[in-house]
Amino acid sequence: MKTLRPQKSIAGHTLSNTAIKALLGAAAFGAGLALTLLAASPAKAATGNPEAAKAKVAMCIGCHGIPGYQASFPEVHKVPMIAGQSAAYLAAALTAYQKGDRKHPTMKGIAASLSEQDILDLSAYYETLGKDLPAKAGKGGAPSAAVTALLQRGNCLSCHGENLNKPIDPSYPKLAGQHGDYLYVALKAYQTQGSASMGRNNAIMAGQVKGYTHAELKQLAQYIESLGGDLKTVPQSRFK
Ligand code: HEC
Ligand code: HEC
Repeated sequence: MKTLRPQKSIAGHTLSNTAIKALLGAAAFGAGLALTLLAASPAKAATGNPEAAKAKVAMCIGCHGIPGYQASFPEVHKVPMIAGQSAAYLAAALTAYQKGDRKHPTMKGIAASLSEQDILDLSAYYETLGKDLPAKAGKGGAPSAAVTALLQRGNCLSCHGENLNKPIDPSYPKLAGQHGDYLYVALKAYQTQGSASMGRNNAIMAGQVKGYTHAELKQLAQYIESLGGDLKTVPQSRFK
């Protein structure tokens, strides 16, 4: 026992020394890595600059700055309201058009011309645009029993939040008040996976829209449009 104990403790000591060295090594490596990442990150500033976007929005206002402006792909519908939408979602959407996860010929072409920083700047710009204008009022009233059942089936409020205007994550969209014809097109797009020319590849929403008929999606879209919320189209002239 007497010889065993010191041996044990020596062994233990040696081991912990080794362990400490390993830990120190890992810490040094970790610190090195952190420094490398820190050194790399300032150029890639994770935040957008709304001021810088002002030089870039000329490319957007011809569609997103004209109230009621219509698009025709894949069917005629109003261009979505993006002012007041959360920046993280706007950036995610623009990146999805750029990468082809959202297949939309016009928005893909536009997003392809944007750098990562352009996307952050434009997203920050549109998040704050129109904040000084009054929020869109809703029609009011509770959803019909049929719509309530549709909302419950997809648990829509669990992610898109109270009144579908307070998403639980900034990368999830605000929906309330958005144009119904656009929402209908968007919802159908999530049902179209893996097509080369249309649809949206998004694992979360693909799971949500599965099993709804087009008629049901239209009912949901019309209800969501009737809600009051933060989304707006802020009229802008090219010559401002
Ligand atoms: C020619 C018209 C047009 C122009 C110009 C245009 N957009 Fe769009 N945008 C659309 C249409 C149509 C959609 C809907 C696409 C779809 O169905 O997915 C859209 C969708 C979007 C979305 C997704 C909205 C959502 O709720 O998911 C964002 C973000 C967006 N555009 C930002 C921009 C920005 C930023 C610019 C300028 C750099 C721009 N767009 C220029 C027509 C346009
Ligand atoms: C588990 C979380 C979750 C649930 C539940 C959910 N959504 Fe979504 N929803 C998302 C996310 C994330 C996106 C953004 C997907 C993307 O980037 O294209 C989204 C996008 C959308 C869009 C596109 C908005 C736009 O501007 O293009 C619509 C419309 C929508 N959801 C409606 C619904 C409806 C209706 C329900 C219930 C049937 C529902 N969602 C349930 C997470 C969810």
